[in-house]
Amino acid sequence: MSNPVARIAFLVASLSGLSNAFWRMDCHSRTGLARIDPLVDPGVVSDHSHAIHGGNNFGFTTTYDDLINSECTSCLVTQDKSAYWTPSLHFMYPNGTTEVVPQVGGMLAYYLLYGDNIQAFPKGFQLLAGNTRLRNFTGPVPDPPKSLWTAAESTQFALSQKAIGFNCLDYSKDPEASLYRHFLPDKAYLDANCLNGLRLELMFPSCWNGKDLDSANHKSHMAYPNLVMTGDCPSGFETRTPSLFYETIWNTYAFNGVEGEFVLSNGDPTGYGYHGDFIAGWDVDFLQSAIETCTNPSGEITDCPLFNIQTQAEAAQCLLNVPSELENDNCAGPVDGLCGNVPIQSGPQEATALSPGSTAAPTGGSLAPYSTPIVTPSTPLVPTLSYLSPTEAATDSYGGGISIAAVNVGLESDPATTAAPSAASEQPAGHIVSTTIYTSNGAVYEIAIEEVDITVTAQPTQAAKHRRHTHHRRRGSHEHGLL
Ligand SMILES: *[C@@H]1O[C@H](CO)[C@@H](O)[C@H](O)[C@H]1NC(C)=O
Ligand SMILES: *[C@@H]1O[C@H](CO)[C@@H](O)[C@H](O)[C@H]1NC(C)=O
Repeated sequence: MSNPVARIAFLVASLSGLSNAFWRMDCHSRTGLARIDPLVDPGVVSDHSHAIHGGNNFGFTTTYDDLINSECTSCLVTQDKSAYWTPSLHFMYPNGTTEVVPQVGGMLAYYLLYGDNIQAFPKGFQLLAGNTRLRNFTGPVPDPPKSLWTAAESTQFALSQKAIGFNCLDYSKDPEASLYRHFLPDKAYLDANCLNGLRLELMFPSCWNGKDLDSANHKSHMAYPNLVMTGDCPSGFETRTPSLFYETIWNTYAFNGVEGEFVLSNGDPTGYGYHGDFIAGWDVDFLQSAIETCTNPSGEITDCPLFNIQTQAEAAQCLLNVPSELENDNCAGPVDGLCGNVPIQSGPQEATALSPGSTAAPTGGSLAPYSTPIVTPSTPLVPTLSYLSPTEAATDSYGGGISIAAVNVGLESDPATTAAPSAASEQPAGHIVSTTIYTSNGAVYEIAIEEVDITVTAQPTQAAKHRRHTHHRRRGSHEHGLL
């Protein structure tokens, strides 16, 4: 039987081949909560409200040049004038009155540096992820392990659905993996389980066609790699950009025990229509230098010598100028209905398109009563291997009896301390089949799952076995701001 200690040393060593450089852009406050969407609804009032972060020169017709000339940014790195926006989350009382759910700590935009030869976003680059009209999901819940994904699991449509996550937060428990659940849990579930609220997650595609700054649907100039975050880019999209991953936390538990439902600002109570937008607002050469320089696996912006960092209080001063067309809007509420008079559409059929341009004050009172969407997981919500806590170093049983060694590779932020080249040279290279990240107790962990062939010499009849191993790698302590 192979020595488990040697095995762990090898696994640790094999991690060094995985690029885990990233930085976590803390956009600590909103610049606004408003019906503005220069990407999808340029020049007019957007049909639904957004939680907006980043450069403050943001309005109905914002371009790169506007953003880069922002007076300020709500992100902590002052060189980042990009705009980041997502639908806001609202609570609807039975009488149709809505109120925005308190957002906790702004948003985080992860710049994950997966892949080789990563190119900075060029001037004018913009991107949308998700589909506001979607109200259903076809795959099993939870997703099968990434190693089992077939071509059908990895179509661009399937990947775009797997790129959305609703992470139920209870900091007293082991965290859920990122992108674990692709729908908005219902009110009863949130009340019972998500004592620290709900984290909305969105992975953007990171494979670029190398030429277009945008496309008609704001999506098709980019593609997902075949494992959503990591993996291979499809042909024609071989240029890697930084992989953007948005997180916003909403304190759904503030409505614990209160009768009503949660709904996204686009009228989606299912979550399948969650989406997000990005317009790059970086000096291109500066961003390229940051990609090449800010490779500390801690993910801390303070570990990057290039970044000028402002305080959270300074970031909180940065607000966009609300256009006069929106003076009748009260998206935060309490207000009758959703701002923009957005109807609730719970699917499963595709939602009808909303009409941008309306500046009428909410009429309210006309919304049909809404009942909890039926979102029955096709498989039970059992903990997957990525639920294992970093301290669970023991072997666990998983799925069909596959053995997992969950290895805490330590708290070091220096990759050199986790590498063990001598052990690596004695073992065949493992194949990393998937990675995922999650946040726990203020630290971000990356899990790399790899498949290796091992020889079990004590039992010659089982000469070779497939084993799957997980690595929990702490990505460095941080003040998440979103706890
Ligand atoms: C709707 O119900 C909420 C909660 O009970 C209440 O605060 C609000 O005033 C009501 N709105 C109207 C228009 O009656
Ligand atoms: C699921 O969503 C797709 C895309 O919006 C739509 O075409 C399809 O009809 C929906 N399925 C059902 C069962 O409504």
